[in-house]
Amino acid sequence: MEVDQATLQNEVEQRRTFAIISHPDAGKTTITEQMLKLGGAIRQAGTVKGRKTGKFATSDWMEVEKQRGISVTSSVMHFNYDDKQVNILDTPGHEDFSEDTYRTLMAVDSGVMVVDTANGIEAQTEKLFKVCRMRGIPIFTFMNKLDRDGREPIDLVEELEEVLEIDAFPMNWPIGSGTSLIGVYDIYHNRIEFNDPDEWNEGELYLPLNEEGEIEGEHRLKEDRLYEQVLEEVELLKIAGNEFSEEAIAAGELTPVFFGSALTGFGVQSFLETFLEFAPEPTPTIDEEEHEIEPTDEEFSGFIFKIQANMDPRHRDRIAFVRIASGQFIPGMNVTLSRTERDFRLNNSTQFMAEDRKIVKHAVAGDIIGLYDTGNFQIGDTIYAGKEKITYKDLPQFTPEIFMKVEAKNVMKQKSYHKGIEQLVQEGAIQLYKNYYTGEYILGAVGQLQFEVFEQRMNNEYNSEVVMSPLGNRIARWIDPEQLQDDMSTSRSLLAKDRDDQPVILFESEFAIRWFTGKYPDVELYSLL
Ligand code: G4P
Repeated sequence: MEVDQATLQNEVEQRRTFAIISHPDAGKTTITEQMLKLGGAIRQAGTVKGRKTGKFATSDWMEVEKQRGISVTSSVMHFNYDDKQVNILDTPGHEDFSEDTYRTLMAVDSGVMVVDTANGIEAQTEKLFKVCRMRGIPIFTFMNKLDRDGREPIDLVEELEEVLEIDAFPMNWPIGSGTSLIGVYDIYHNRIEFNDPDEWNEGELYLPLNEEGEIEGEHRLKEDRLYEQVLEEVELLKIAGNEFSEEAIAAGELTPVFFGSALTGFGVQSFLETFLEFAPEPTPTIDEEEHEIEPTDEEFSGFIFKIQANMDPRHRDRIAFVRIASGQFIPGMNVTLSRTERDFRLNNSTQFMAEDRKIVKHAVAGDIIGLYDTGNFQIGDTIYAGKEKITYKDLPQFTPEIFMKVEAKNVMKQKSYHKGIEQLVQEGAIQLYKNYYTGEYILGAVGQLQFEVFEQRMNNEYNSEVVMSPLGNRIARWIDPEQLQDDMSTSRSLLAKDRDDQPVILFESEFAIRWFTGKYPDVELYSLL
């Protein structure tokens, strides 16, 4: 296919594809809305949020979403800002998140971590952060809810560095908080940004500072004790803190930290602008042979990171989400599915903007497209155009944390039961294990919700009722088959096989692991991510 290289390069350079990671209620939805508003993609706050409260039922594609009033799966939102085209990949905000949440992070070039200043780093943020860390992508931190009294900024930054083992660089520093919030001292831009510019700065949002980082001439703020305090704190940060380094940010070793309030919008615009300055454009994707495929390569290629079934209950269709890794997508183009080497035409693609589906006419590397799927795709599949075969590296498997035994309720209906399980496992909705000795099916998930979705879909789509009995939270550890011994399986350390028939022990607790390693000191235990 004829591709104008200069145009492609130009378009790819404009793309910024990222995900927001946070613990539920930290403010991910609110900040997403503020960004969409700044980009002119929505006019009203509440458009995205409505998805959670059920006001916008059209986006609650799946039954479970409707019933629980939450977004089960990740979708894609996009907007333009300055000369950038921004793609935000939404990650489910509910505690019951699933492997989809993790996999979405395989399709982004950077992450924004939203932290509630009252709570600091919370469990779910930590989990998602680890995946970003593993990928070495840049991570930007937004310390949210500055309009409320939270914890001391220095405590928050210290905790972030300690818990997540990443260096932090405060880009700005709060001047007050809650009702006494005056604004932030913007260290990076050497200016003050006011929460209420009318009250403090004759309507001007920013007040530039002199070379010493202080207010030049007369200003009311100079009389405020908070100003003095902030000058001292910033001085301390300059002496004792990390140095700003673009390379360290790009390598995901240093996170720039911004304070602000998603609810009032304070600090969101300057965050977005600075974020877009440093957020990377689409980076190369690694194939099976460890070759880097450049996003600006002429030939189209992409990988499937998520498959979602029955988004529209009227059509019972499946959508495969493709991250374009190189080249450009044009409707009607011919591609090959690498796994089967089958050729097909890409003629029916949809792209998502919150609850609304639009037909995609043109997309380039960095963009996400949704393809209608009749059961041909699997998670991790590569599709490519041109003669040269491309197969991208497998997406990582994530260690499940909760397990269930599963059986068909009606033994006469084994066929639909097996077909359903096989397809849902293939789709990545759930992981399948087997009892090492009896072959009984055990399902594994990272979130409880995956089981509910599984049960419901088995029922609705495969007409197969299942009986599930919880095995509870378990810690899965793999062992070398050669080190396997007969007496290793107990109720506290259940021996199972993974999908590749590799032995894995499902431990009841950390205590059970310690007991095991005490008993078998020479046996090595491995974990996935
Ligand atoms: P999430 O997507 O990360 O789960 O969080 P979401 O944006 O839904 O925000 C969770 C709650 O925190 C919401 O309040 C929201 O209004 C509030 N919030 C978000 N950002 C800020 C902020 O900067 N300051 C303050 N004070 N609150 C913030 P809610 O009462 O649970 O929901 P709602 O009744 O406002 O819809």
